Amino acid sequence: MKRTLGTCYYPEHWPEEMWEADARRMAETGLTWVRIGEFAWSRLEPAPGDLQFDWLDRAIDTLGQAGLKVVLGTPTATPPRWMIDRHPDMVAVDANGHPRKFGSRRHYCFSHEGFREESDRIVRLIAERYGRNPHVAAWQTDNEYGCHDTVISYSGAARRGFRIWLQNRYGSIEALNRAWGNVFWSMDYASFDEIDLPNLTVTEPNPSHTLAFRRFSSDQVAVFNKRQVDIIRAHSDAPISHNYMGRITEFDHFKVGDDLEIATWDSYPLGFLEDRVGADAGHQRTYMRQGDPDFQAFHHDLYRAVGKGRWWVMEQQPGPVNWAPYNPAPLPGMMRLWAWEAYAHGAEAVCYFRWRQAPFAQEQMHAGMLRPDNADAPALIEARKVADELRKAPDVSAPQAPVALLFDYDADFAWATQPHGAGLSYFQCVFDTYKALRKLGLSVDILRGETRDFTGYKIVAAPGLIYMPQDLKQALAEADADVVLGPRSAARNADMVIPVPLPPDMPGLELAVSRVESLRPDMPMPLKGGGAFVGYREELETAAETILELETGEPAVIRQENLTYVGGWGDEHALKRIYEQLCEEAGIGTTELSGGVRCRDTDDLRIWVNYGADAAETPAGRIEAAGVLFEPK
Ligand code: GAL
Repeated sequence: MKRTLGTCYYPEHWPEEMWEADARRMAETGLTWVRIGEFAWSRLEPAPGDLQFDWLDRAIDTLGQAGLKVVLGTPTATPPRWMIDRHPDMVAVDANGHPRKFGSRRHYCFSHEGFREESDRIVRLIAERYGRNPHVAAWQTDNEYGCHDTVISYSGAARRGFRIWLQNRYGSIEALNRAWGNVFWSMDYASFDEIDLPNLTVTEPNPSHTLAFRRFSSDQVAVFNKRQVDIIRAHSDAPISHNYMGRITEFDHFKVGDDLEIATWDSYPLGFLEDRVGADAGHQRTYMRQGDPDFQAFHHDLYRAVGKGRWWVMEQQPGPVNWAPYNPAPLPGMMRLWAWEAYAHGAEAVCYFRWRQAPFAQEQMHAGMLRPDNADAPALIEARKVADELRKAPDVSAPQAPVALLFDYDADFAWATQPHGAGLSYFQCVFDTYKALRKLGLSVDILRGETRDFTGYKIVAAPGLIYMPQDLKQALAEADADVVLGPRSAARNADMVIPVPLPPDMPGLELAVSRVESLRPDMPMPLKGGGAFVGYREELETAAETILELETGEPAVIRQENLTYVGGWGDEHALKRIYEQLCEEAGIGTTELSGGVRCRDTDDLRIWVNYGADAAETPAGRIEAAGVLFEPK
């Protein structure tokens, strides 16, 4: 498949006289895609029922006439002001019980039936009008579900929906009381109507209650999305996508992705480095103009899985952004590197956000491909270069990797419910494993937690899966691959209760985690021979072979047949030791990478990128700072 480029454009922000020249310039730059429409509701329907679609007809036509393909977004992330008068209780409510007001975006609660019907209505109007438009080649539902902390809402609508959801799940209130252990602190309920949302309690609510509410909230996103998808699909054959946001884990992206053809995500490497990567200040300084060397790749691999192979970057950082604590400019070359790295991981398209910097409103400090005065900005120049390279480049594809890493949103909900130590999160636990694998030069496939067929993988890493259904345990125990579990594997049952026999209770693994402890981050527990457990550690009662020991002499990592169990949160060195040894035994070649150099294998190339600010050596030769190197295999 030929890889493509695109941009995000807001025709409603600019005088109509500019559209044609913009469209021509996009095409001349080598762009294929232009995403529009996702925030335009107040201009499509300025007053209830007053439909003004003519301008959008002309915008789509102008872009299409220039040879561009349109991704049409549904505008539901920005309901117009008049809608709040129609549905005053449609806004989400925060944990303190305060309504989240109009004046920015995403001001709706996923559970509000009145807003869901408004969403159906506007999506139907758009789908009917543009479903057969030859220029509309793909769709996007809404915009970044969950961004700005908008999945969980403590509204009246959510409370009503949650009670029904609980009734469906548990059947009887006695079953719920039993499953949650509500005998504790006299929390028993006499009926589902007594159950409130788990906020504003005196001290922490029952973790079973919190986890159930997180699951319910996640399901509400999938339900909302599916309503849009069903309407669009009735009128159009074009693929439907959603643009997920990096490190948003409050809803199950795989479940939303089940109803879509393409997964896309919004990649802001410098914005993420400051507040989503979990990096210390030194790392942030080193990569301040490049981004973390693994964070983008992790999401590329994640969304390849969410999209069942079809995925894009829908928004690529084009320069300084406006929303991180600090907003530096990228090193020259990075906007090209980010695009090539995405293609190396199988992206079909990379679209830069946004076409022209807006001189007004919230994002006036956010760069675009053009400056506000219409001159070329650095992103346009680098995109042009990528477009030239794409014309000459062979097709790239992402074949199955030797190593798989499981990622399960439900496990993230459970860790968030009960982190057990400050700063411990499932995402970070999985991401640390991913980084260790990448620093060994490995290509990695991320698999959803529901996967049961591991054919073709030599190593399957499944850290932190706090609840593991029996069939998953069985499938992993029977897999041909070496399987790495722990910490916290199968530590809770489906309702957030400690199971007996004690975890992980894996077939084929004689192991019980007899006690767990969380540790101050500055008090690691060293391993014999190097590396340490940091922040979290488990005591292992086992008959299996110990392969790494704590300096105290207790077992840290154990192994029986194909199952390895890591009884703590390994630091970089510990994880390297564990996976290096497994790779060696499994016959997987590794290349130790340092600094910002990383690689990814395609069918016939190894594509190297250098996130470092200095040139570096690779086995394939020298790579410039912010450089990309194509090594034939
Ligand atoms: C994304 C969002 C865009 C824009 C961008 C700014 O999260 O989808 O609409 O706000 O961030 O970086």
